[in-house]
Amino acid sequence: MEPHTAAKHRILQNYLYAWLPIMSKYNGRLVYVDGFAGPGVYEDGEPGSPIIALNAYLDHAYRERIDAELVYVFIEEERARVKRLKKEIAALGALPKNVVVEVIEGSFQDRFAEVLDDVETRGAALAPTFAFIDPFGYSDAPMDLSGRFLQFDRCEVLVYVPLRHVNRFVGRAGQENAMNTLFGTDEWEKARELNGDARLRFLHDLFAKQLENECGLTYVRSFEIVSSANPASGYTLFFGTKHQLGLRRMKESMWDIDRVEGQRYKDTTSSGMQPLFEDEVDTTPLRDALIAHFGKKKFTIEDALEFTLVDTPYLPSHVKKRTLKPLELDGKLQVLTERRGKGTYPDGAKMRFTL
Ligand SMILES: C[S@@+](CC[C@H](N)C(=O)[O-])C[C@H]1O[C@@H](n2cnc3c(N)ncnc32)[C@H](O)[C@@H]1O
Repeated sequence: MEPHTAAKHRILQNYLYAWLPIMSKYNGRLVYVDGFAGPGVYEDGEPGSPIIALNAYLDHAYRERIDAELVYVFIEEERARVKRLKKEIAALGALPKNVVVEVIEGSFQDRFAEVLDDVETRGAALAPTFAFIDPFGYSDAPMDLSGRFLQFDRCEVLVYVPLRHVNRFVGRAGQENAMNTLFGTDEWEKARELNGDARLRFLHDLFAKQLENECGLTYVRSFEIVSSANPASGYTLFFGTKHQLGLRRMKESMWDIDRVEGQRYKDTTSSGMQPLFEDEVDTTPLRDALIAHFGKKKFTIEDALEFTLVDTPYLPSHVKKRTLKPLELDGKLQVLTERRGKGTYPDGAKMRFTL
C-alpha cells in the first residue's frame, strides 16, 4: 500500500473513532456510506476502507457504550471486488446485533440516488450519515448527488479528489462533462486562463466553495496528500460538515498524521498557512492570522478559539500556550480581565493586541 493511501485511511479511521461515540449518544441510528468501496483488502493484505470503517467500531475502546444501530452501506461497481469485499467482511466473524452491513453492487451514481429517492419519497429524515467518496478518477462523484445528500442535516462527507490530475486535464478538450460533474458548475473553465499554482489554488477553492454552496455545508476543510516520489499525483481530501464539533474532530484527525519517510502531508485550506506535522508546531502563521483578523479590536478567548478552528488550519489547542502567551510576554497582547496570572486565559477573558 502506498504511504498516501495509508495517510488517507488513518484520517478516516481517526475521525470515525471520534464520530461513533459522539453521534451514538444522541441518535439511535447512524449510517456510514462508502460510495467507492473497493475489495476491502489491498494486495499486501492491508485492509481497505470498508474494513477500516467496521473496525473503527469493532475495535473501539468504548464499544460497549456505542449502542446505536450502525448501518454500513458499501457501494462497488465491479462484481469481482464486491465478491471479495463480502469475503473480507465475513472473515471478521459474526458481527454484533447492532451492526447492519449492506454491500451493494452497482454504480455510486445510480445506487446512491436510489437510496436518496427512497428517503425523499417516504419523507423520512436520513439518520446522521458520514459518506466517504473515494473514486479512482474524478468523473464519477457528481456534486449534485453529494449536494442532495448533504442537504440533510447531520450529514458529513469526506471526498478524495485527485486535484493535481484535474489541474493537468482541465485544459484538454473532451473533459467538459467530467469537470461539470465534478464541480457541479462550469466555473472551472476560468481555470483555463490561469497557470501553475494559481490554477491549482483556483480549482481547490472552487471545489470547496461548491461544497459549501451547493451542499449547504458550513465548514469545509481540505488536506493535501502529496507523494514526494510523484508530486504530480497529489490528492486532496475535502471534508465538509455543518457542525463545529465535527470540524474539530476532523482537524484533530488530520493533525494526528505523522510524517512518513519520503512523504509530505500538508494542510492546504488557507494559502500560506501550511503547518508541518511535527511535534514542534510553528504557530507564527496562526499568530499573524489572529493579528490580521482582530487588529486592534477587543476580542474574547472564545472568539480567538473559534476563529482558529473555523478559519485557519490550526487547532484550538494551539492558541493559548503556544500563541497568545508568547505575545503577551512580549508586550503585544493586553488582557483586560482579572485572572490568576499572565499566560492564563479563563472563559470569557477579554483582550486586544497592542501593536
Ligand atoms: C480508489 S478505489 C476505492 C478504494 C477504497 N475506498 C479503499 O480505500 O480501500 C475506487 C473503487 O471504486 C470502484 N468504482 C469505480 N467507479 C465506480 C462507480 N461509478 N460506482 C461505484 N464504484 C466504482 C472501483 O472498482 C474501485 O474499486
